[in-house]
Amino acid sequence: MRKITIAIDGHSSCGKSTMAKDLAREIGYIYIDSGAMYRCCTLFCIEQGLIKADGTPDAEALENRMQEIHVSFRLNPDTGRPDTYLNGENVETRIRTMEVSGLVSPVAALPFVRAAMTAQQQAMGREGGIVMDGRDIGTAVFPHAEMKVFVTASDEIRAQRRYDELVAKGEQPDFEAVLQNLRERDHIDSTRAVAPLRQADDALVLDNSHMTIAEQKQWLLDRFKERVED
Ligand code: CDP
Repeated sequence: MRKITIAIDGHSSCGKSTMAKDLAREIGYIYIDSGAMYRCCTLFCIEQGLIKADGTPDAEALENRMQEIHVSFRLNPDTGRPDTYLNGENVETRIRTMEVSGLVSPVAALPFVRAAMTAQQQAMGREGGIVMDGRDIGTAVFPHAEMKVFVTASDEIRAQRRYDELVAKGEQPDFEAVLQNLRERDHIDSTRAVAPLRQADDALVLDNSHMTIAEQKQWLLDRFKERVED
């Protein structure tokens, strides 16, 4: 059977990664979390002192050091899912903190960051057989993807899911701060000049506010089967 390219885009914390990972595993495709790549660029800024006193990323310093950022993914045999590596180091936990979430959208809005990550993502997907999730996958990275999904859910439900996820990891987040962060990121992601978050004209829309993980998985699998049988 021919291998297609699947682009899953949508707002923060709407469960895209869970559904994309599950689908990729089920159909034997590669899964790439493009958000993890922007989170790695952000972690690099934090750990290399590239955040200015006013709390914004030092764009000039980062641009000079972009070639030092190498992101890769390796399967974790315990979870059966890929972990994110920055320059050979497993940063899967460190990229998911509220500190990184608070800075990632301004970093991801920088045109030279987007150019570098988009080129890497396109190289990873050259052969097809890939499920990639993010904000601009169906619009900018793979505009010719055979299957595009745009996922959304209400703000409160998305904030609750992210809050539960952080609690499960042992953090003690403040619900209002989580809600505020996702609204802020949605705003920056949707209004930036380069590759803003928007629904591709040919995307299938999924509002999963009231769906279980099992239901959304089945929905996606059914849509996939329709596409490859076309
Ligand atoms: O996990 P969550 O949905 O909250 O976010 P993520 O997928 O880890 O992405 C983190 C951030 O990276 C987003 O808020 C965007 O600012 C940025 N991003 C992007 O600009 N383009 C992408 N293709 C993926 C993520």
